[in-house]
Amino acid sequence: MLSSLISLVVLAVSAAPAIALPQLTTRQTNLPSTFKWTSSNALVFPKNDGRGVAGVKDPSIIQVNGTYHVFASTAQNEGYSLFYFNFTDYSKANSSPFFYLDQSGIGTGYRAAPQVFYFAPQKLWYLVYQNGNAAYSTNKDISEPKGWTAPTNFYSGTPKIIEDNLEGGYWVDMWVICDDADCHLFSSDDNGRLYRSQTPLSNFPSGMSDPVIAMEEPRKEDLFEAANVYTIGEKSYLLLVECIGSVGRYFRSWTSTDIKGPWKALAATESQPFFGASNTVFNGTKWTDNLSHGEVVRTDVDQTLKIKPCGMEFLYQGVDPGADWSSYNALPWRLGLARQVGGC
Ligand SMILES: *[C@@H]1O[C@H](CO)[C@@H](O)[C@H](O)[C@H]1NC(C)=O
Ligand SMILES: *[C@@H]1O[C@H](CO)[C@@H](O)[C@H](O)[C@H]1NC(C)=O
Ligand SMILES: *[C@@H]1O[C@H](CO)[C@@H](O)[C@H](O)[C@H]1NC(C)=O
Ligand SMILES: *[C@@H]1O[C@H](CO)[C@@H](O)[C@H](O)[C@H]1NC(C)=O
Repeated sequence: MLSSLISLVVLAVSAAPAIALPQLTTRQTNLPSTFKWTSSNALVFPKNDGRGVAGVKDPSIIQVNGTYHVFASTAQNEGYSLFYFNFTDYSKANSSPFFYLDQSGIGTGYRAAPQVFYFAPQKLWYLVYQNGNAAYSTNKDISEPKGWTAPTNFYSGTPKIIEDNLEGGYWVDMWVICDDADCHLFSSDDNGRLYRSQTPLSNFPSGMSDPVIAMEEPRKEDLFEAANVYTIGEKSYLLLVECIGSVGRYFRSWTSTDIKGPWKALAATESQPFFGASNTVFNGTKWTDNLSHGEVVRTDVDQTLKIKPCGMEFLYQGVDPGADWSSYNALPWRLGLARQVGGC
């Protein structure tokens, strides 16, 4: 405490020439260096429709022409699959019917952790998800959930570097973002490593390169899973990774001027995270200590995944603090909405 006070004083003393410092950071990223959120109560629950779904998880959300489209995972003892729903107002989110995507070309079997985006060069929607490999399906019309194609894998099998590093982890949470030249595929190993592959934009979705380690931490808890990468402004990128803290799950963040990195810490500690229990005030009940896998709400639809640096909304998964973690797949995950307070 004393030492941080001293460094504050030192900063203040050098304030005259240093006034430009925070502005420099702002110009580079247009992002604030600290974040604060308010959260809704649990907003979206499993339906009582005979499917036996225990938890709704891993939301990917995009707003197109006034409609929010959400793709997410269902979890239950039998495993994971995907579903879709839409609404025009968050207050109506839970009353929207679920379309289970095993009713589309995506089919039955293990599928989880979807990411949706529009690939403008091909005028096609992509849904990227995990199925043991990293897979995608496409659709001409996001409003027509029956229209998703059968899964195609990005890789011929688990890439060697990932296999070699798993050590009891899981290969999860695939994420695609493109710049002007390339499309990049990120994934995590639940073991402290974030991976990245790439292919030329003109070749997407074919030709993903062997992954390289984009970032690693000695403790897997400090770089766990559910990574998101967004474009901020023109040439700046925001990386979020879900981590395991002393209280629960939270997100660390980094910025870069290149999707290939290097990544520079932004709000990257449990006490001052991008998003977590320590910087979130709940409107109503504090229904979860674990602020887990989710996505910033995108209103810009293309493959560059542009978001605003302020006024963000984050749709995430949380779980009753009294839940029994001995049966992970049966945990009662719900979706909640967080809103960034203030900002830039
Ligand atoms: C929480 O309440 C504040 C004050 O009414 C409101 O501005 C904010 O949007 C609410 N947050 C969410 C996520 O609903
Ligand atoms: C949004 O609406 C406009 C105007 O009706 C239409 O041209 C456009 O295709 C719609 N966008 C999407 C992604 O459906
Ligand atoms: C909303 O989802 C339903 C499927 O549950 C779909 O038929 C409909 O077209 C979607 N509406 C919009 C506006 O995308
Ligand atoms: C939060 O998640 C961790 C696993 O990362 C779990 O062990 C813990 O019980 C959860 N805490 C609460 C209060 O739900």
